[in-house]
Amino acid sequence: MKVLIVGSGGREHAIAWACAKSPKVTKLYCAPGNAGIAVVAECVPIPAMDFEKLAGFAKENEVDLTVVGMDDPLVGGIVDYFEEQNLRIFGPRKNAAILEGSKAFSKDLMQKYGIPTAAYRTVNSAEEARACLKEVRYPVVLKADGLALGKGVLICETPAEAEVGVRQIMEDRKFGDAGNRMVIEEFLTGREISVLSFVDGRAIRIMASAMDHKRAGDGDTGLNTGGMGNFSPSPFYTEEVDAFCREHIYQKTVDAMAAEGRPFKGVIFFGLILTEDGPKVLEYNARFGDPEAQVVIPRLKNDIVEVFEACVDGTLDRMELEFSADACLCVVLASDGYPLAYEKGFPISGLETFEGRDDEFVFHAGTRFDEEGRIVTNGGRVLAVTALAPTLREARDKAYGAVERVHFANRYMRHDIGHAIDEA
Ligand code: AMP
Ligand code: GLY
Repeated sequence: MKVLIVGSGGREHAIAWACAKSPKVTKLYCAPGNAGIAVVAECVPIPAMDFEKLAGFAKENEVDLTVVGMDDPLVGGIVDYFEEQNLRIFGPRKNAAILEGSKAFSKDLMQKYGIPTAAYRTVNSAEEARACLKEVRYPVVLKADGLALGKGVLICETPAEAEVGVRQIMEDRKFGDAGNRMVIEEFLTGREISVLSFVDGRAIRIMASAMDHKRAGDGDTGLNTGGMGNFSPSPFYTEEVDAFCREHIYQKTVDAMAAEGRPFKGVIFFGLILTEDGPKVLEYNARFGDPEAQVVIPRLKNDIVEVFEACVDGTLDRMELEFSADACLCVVLASDGYPLAYEKGFPISGLETFEGRDDEFVFHAGTRFDEEGRIVTNGGRVLAVTALAPTLREARDKAYGAVERVHFANRYMRHDIGHAIDEA
């Protein structure tokens, strides 16, 4: 079968890499893709938000299944658009992608169905926000309602900081329409865990757990980023935590969406926090995480295309997922200055040292070919250097060994990905 992947980051490279291994796949396309994805798929220069061109391409080239990696097209309704034209596509419809697209929606859903999460209030104006902020305990968390590239969450220590936050989100509209509404939320403390799952509208299958490193700097300092590294499994995701989440969170979320007339098909990413009162949901995403995908997908033993099809067809209840016992860890190589300003266009060396290996991979996040056909940097996050090994410690040593083989002028990375492994 012919498969089209929509997106251009490290997550989409991991998805494409797994699809390329499937015996079912005869032709793989990716729109728009990047220089790494080009090794396993034919890249087509159509932007992820151009639904008309994407659907046209899928029809013309008789694509059997389209897989969407990114949140923007999902929240924007790409699945509805494809389905209206009888094109098969993996991902939630617009009315279900709202689980990620509106924080107010997801908080109301959790409250209504008794899914554990932080206490909150939704406010519709700066005035309402200010009145609410007089009554809360600090620190307090402010969240722009809509998609804000992972930057719409502010943790405010004092009323003065919260005032700046209200101004930025609701008055200066730093995140545009995402700031029409805001969630004001109780601050929780505990370890964070990412859990990805496949969902077919009714059934859910949990993937291996992972642990992200969102801050730019060593020791979890500096600005929030899309994620500077990741590992799987998380040693803090114990059987007890798993049992609690299965009882109180996972299936309940899927059932709640179905009960609301918004059946969810695709990937639900549960952003969990292990508080003293038990696991709670910090956030939902309607897609694979990036770089969670880069450490979870290499451990998946199933044919990923079969899993995608089971979600689309509603037959996931007949399938069990299998994961390798090996641990996986990735270190993101970024452009110095990310997540703010950075330069790009620098040639990358050492990529060929990963060719033919099945325990070390380099997933491309922001790369392209220049006029001379060289692979150059093309984004804030550039590469995810990933290693599989029997233990997390070995995977970490291997990944940090492998990053030394890759060079570009303004290479930046964290040196402590996986530090929590030593605390487990
Ligand atoms: P989100 O986009 O909702 O995942 O938020 C981004 C990050 O903000 C999370 O990964 C947490 O580190 C932090 N965060 C979000 N909500 C809370 C909360 N209620 N208490 C403490 N930290 C939070
Ligand atoms: N790594 C976090 C995310 O993809 O949202």
